[in-house]
Amino acid sequence: MQAKVVIVGSLNMDLVTRAPRLPRGGETLAGHSFVTVPGGKGANQAVAAARLGASVAMIGCVGDDAYGDQLRAALVAEGIDCTAVTAVPGESSGVALIVVDDNSQNAIVIVAGGNGHVSAEVVDRFDTLLSQAEVIICQLEIPMATVGHVLKRGRELGKIVILNPAPASEPLPADWYALIDYLIPNESEASLLTGLPVDSVATADSAATALLASGASKVIITLGPQGSLLATSSRSQHFAAPKVQALDTTAAGDTFVGGFAAALAEGKSESEAIQFGQIAAALSVTRAGAQPSIPTFDEVQGFKP
Ligand code: RIB
Repeated sequence: MQAKVVIVGSLNMDLVTRAPRLPRGGETLAGHSFVTVPGGKGANQAVAAARLGASVAMIGCVGDDAYGDQLRAALVAEGIDCTAVTAVPGESSGVALIVVDDNSQNAIVIVAGGNGHVSAEVVDRFDTLLSQAEVIICQLEIPMATVGHVLKRGRELGKIVILNPAPASEPLPADWYALIDYLIPNESEASLLTGLPVDSVATADSAATALLASGASKVIITLGPQGSLLATSSRSQHFAAPKVQALDTTAAGDTFVGGFAAALAEGKSESEAIQFGQIAAALSVTRAGAQPSIPTFDEVQGFKP
């Protein structure tokens, strides 16, 4: 089956510790538990799109180690086309060191490993996947030059191009904005990209206006429990989030992006796709871990607020 949603991005093994709180610099803290869980923003978005109803292909790189085999196997088990997930000889797989505290907040350190090898040449080898897609998604855990290359190719091919600018550490290249159909940052990413504070629907609206002025065609700022804000040249609309008891917010944004993309690929309207993604993300925060927390299509359909 041809993949309607193609993700070009990262795969990480998440090394997750639960602890009473996040440690301070120089501090040794006793944690509650430790697990290894498949993650990485790209792979999480691929799993979300697949569980939420889309046919999906992933383009990315892992190391030639046991984590690489496990990360690939986790995607294959979801029915994701992994012909373009390649192992880099002599390299380790990407890892994310994650601490989740008793208030369900997290802190994450990532080491790129294989993700750093996702070059434009690697992407070009799998151009057929891009040309067969309806939606193409990138994040920022692979080299920036590669992301720019994918955005440009996606625009040339006339696809729906989504950029989740996560993690954001610097402003986006100015010429990227015109290549993106949906720019989907969270609060801190929107703040970093615009230099404006973003912590409410009103401040998100100002940041979205600035991002539109930079050339983005549509912006969706995710606001955690405050929902999300869609801004286009003709409208700005707030979508309230379903109320849930959060246990672990890891991969909530990824679940939203994957769910939104899957719904768009199925022909849902923008508003329906946002509401669908929000329910999926809300369900994900009630469960621990990245990929294990992502709900299925039936769970989202059956959700009662
Ligand atoms: O967005 C959550 C993800 O960020 C984790 O799975 C971790 O791998 C980091 O990339």
